[in-house]
Amino acid sequence: METLVQSLLTYSLLFVAISHTLPPLACSFPISHHFPAVFNFGDSNSDTGELSSGLGFLPQPSYEEAYFKTPYYGRFCNGRLILDFLMEAIGRPYLRPYLDSISRQSYRRGCNFAAAASTIQKANAASYSPFGLGVQVSQFITFKSKVLQLIHQGDDELERYLPPEYYFKNGLYMFDIGQNDIAGAFYSKTFDQVLALIPTILDIFQDGIKRLYEEGARNFWIHNTGPLGCLAQVVSLFGKDKSKLDEFGCVSDHNQAAKLFNLQLHGLFKKLPQLYPGSRFTYVDIFSIKSDLLLNHSKYGFDHSIMVCCGTGGPPLNYDDEVGCGKTATSNGTIKTAKPCIDSSKYVNWDGIHYTEAANRFVALHILTGKYSETA
Ligand SMILES: *[C@@H]1O[C@H](CO)[C@@H](O)[C@H](O)[C@H]1NC(C)=O
Ligand SMILES: *[C@@H]1O[C@H](CO)[C@@H](O)[C@H](O)[C@H]1NC(C)=O
Repeated sequence: METLVQSLLTYSLLFVAISHTLPPLACSFPISHHFPAVFNFGDSNSDTGELSSGLGFLPQPSYEEAYFKTPYYGRFCNGRLILDFLMEAIGRPYLRPYLDSISRQSYRRGCNFAAAASTIQKANAASYSPFGLGVQVSQFITFKSKVLQLIHQGDDELERYLPPEYYFKNGLYMFDIGQNDIAGAFYSKTFDQVLALIPTILDIFQDGIKRLYEEGARNFWIHNTGPLGCLAQVVSLFGKDKSKLDEFGCVSDHNQAAKLFNLQLHGLFKKLPQLYPGSRFTYVDIFSIKSDLLLNHSKYGFDHSIMVCCGTGGPPLNYDDEVGCGKTATSNGTIKTAKPCIDSSKYVNWDGIHYTEAANRFVALHILTGKYSETA
């Protein structure tokens, strides 16, 4: 145990040393290199190229360029995601997307099923991503079954690329999903209807956990959802009436719904260990970390919180829903191009929906302090 804590401290010191923002050190935190593999489920917050592979589109120009050199994978960010920073912290390669067919990366240390735009609820004909949580879990079950079949054929060469059986049992199962269920519901539902949907969404989430548990998963790591009402896309579409905005310029209803989703997710998290004996769950309060970053951004060295780096239209949002980052399109009768800002490290928001690499680094560092996590 002592060596575990020591090595974790080494990692956190390393991270603090390279950071210009100094989160207070906690004596331990629960993500560790002792998990032999990581299996991740989610949406664009942790998609390392899944939707791009699955739907067959090349990443947009400007995306990933701040960190990754060609070939690009398909992250919805200018660089690394929270998940990438967490993998770095435990000395692991970035997680390879399940559907990635052309790559040098290996699946030995885990696999990433997260796909941008995915929901906990089942996708429907209008969904941008067909890979809802249920499908992602099915993909995992297929992955595991095929890996075990291959391993049992006894081909040593495969060991370099695939996880052995015990990695599945001792691995960490991570989730960052729910944002699109809540944000998406607001397009067709009233505030009260959105709130009424939360228990149904969480029942489906629990079903995903149950299916993984039945497959032998025991270590679960759950991110709650962020302050959606502070995303420029939401502000531009739902905040035209200024009375909808709070004192920070965020849409109150969306943040309220996110908070209620998190409250109920937290309630479920408390119950899960009894429902699934022998399992451990960590709940990470992403909402608080992101709110702190957004509301106190200047204290942390950021010049802009809601205004986006890669967009068009100028202040206050620099966001036009008709012209996505890296694209040229006609909006309001004129042709516009959404280009990246000069210094993305001064912006929290990358493209109106996703955070910049600088912001993701901030969030990951705060996760690593352990101060925003609870284990049950
Ligand atoms: C902003 O910083 C102040 C002072 O450190 C802190 O009390 C407050 O909780 C922070 N805001 C958020 C939303 O975390
Ligand atoms: C659309 O164009 C008109 C005329 O140029 C301008 O007055 C108006 O502010 C523009 N609207 C938006 C949302 O940019």
